[in-house]
Amino acid sequence: MFVRNAWYVAAFSHECTDRPMARTLLDEPVVLFRTPAGQCVALQDRCCHRFAPLSLGDVEADGIRCRYHGMKFNSRGACIDIPGQNTIPPKMCVRSFPLVERHGLLWIWMGETHHANEELIVDVHWNDDPDWPTARGYIHYQANYQLIADNLLDFSHLTFVHRTTLANAAFPNAHPHITSFERGIRLTREILDCEASPLHAMAGRFQGKVDFWNRQAWWLPSIFENWAGSVPTGGDGAPHERPGGLHLRHFSLLTPETEKSTHYFWIQPCQFPHGDISVIEAVGQGIAKAFAEDNAIIEAQQKSWDTCPPGTHPQPVRNDAALGRVRFMIEELIRLEQSPA
Ligand code: FES
Ligand SMILES: [Fe+2]
Repeated sequence: MFVRNAWYVAAFSHECTDRPMARTLLDEPVVLFRTPAGQCVALQDRCCHRFAPLSLGDVEADGIRCRYHGMKFNSRGACIDIPGQNTIPPKMCVRSFPLVERHGLLWIWMGETHHANEELIVDVHWNDDPDWPTARGYIHYQANYQLIADNLLDFSHLTFVHRTTLANAAFPNAHPHITSFERGIRLTREILDCEASPLHAMAGRFQGKVDFWNRQAWWLPSIFENWAGSVPTGGDGAPHERPGGLHLRHFSLLTPETEKSTHYFWIQPCQFPHGDISVIEAVGQGIAKAFAEDNAIIEAQQKSWDTCPPGTHPQPVRNDAALGRVRFMIEELIRLEQSPA
């Protein structure tokens, strides 16, 4: 079960071309393509005639033509050509989804169209800001998106899963300060006078100890914003406000594919205290390595979860506070969407 009235990332902008792309989102087949005029379009990937996938078809100036019997659909999903007949019945259409291209990402709305408010799209403007060199990636996950959310909302795992990348021995005891807001939760954490994680030490070229911060937001249902960084220890003011820091404006953008698989997009805009932006490549490799470590444990967890007899529940601990809160909020959203009112 998914929250449907929400903006999800359907693709990176560069993935959407004049060659139709099939992608399953929230258990629905979707075709994405870019018109010759440059507009990105998302339609149900199932021709209403005999149900061939439209993603096998061809993009034309005013729409996409099905490869099977040649019907053409415009960007709103209306059929505009039926080879062999002149009249087009009104029911001859496929569903079109609101789609917004913004800051290098395509955002799709899979719920009720009249609720699709573009102001609710999470701000990721760092992704196409030239002042923020950015690494990016995509992972196809064989796991429910909430297991990935659980992972991102509990950094105690960094010490154990990411020993060579993001680890910091202090994480299990560095409980974040958690507050709720209308669209999710915020988590803040500072670890002062600590060893830099391997990734931060490399990216920031820190020699000695650092003050570390996380300023995070979980945007319901499935977007994780993590402004993380390190700065040489000592000095006045909050670590994230002091000069000489390494700033990582990370986003993990999760889009359910099915109940047991997820599209995981990530972006990692950075600013380096030394100004050498060539380091971005190594940062991207480090993040990809760390996320492969998460992927291995979470996919194994999903398989294990699937063996649970009915009525088996996880045993909570203190570090589950944030993920428990988000799971509760998601359940509430789904309950509200499904209530008759
Ligand atoms: S199935 Fe698409 S035109 Fe027949
Ligand atoms: Fe992780």
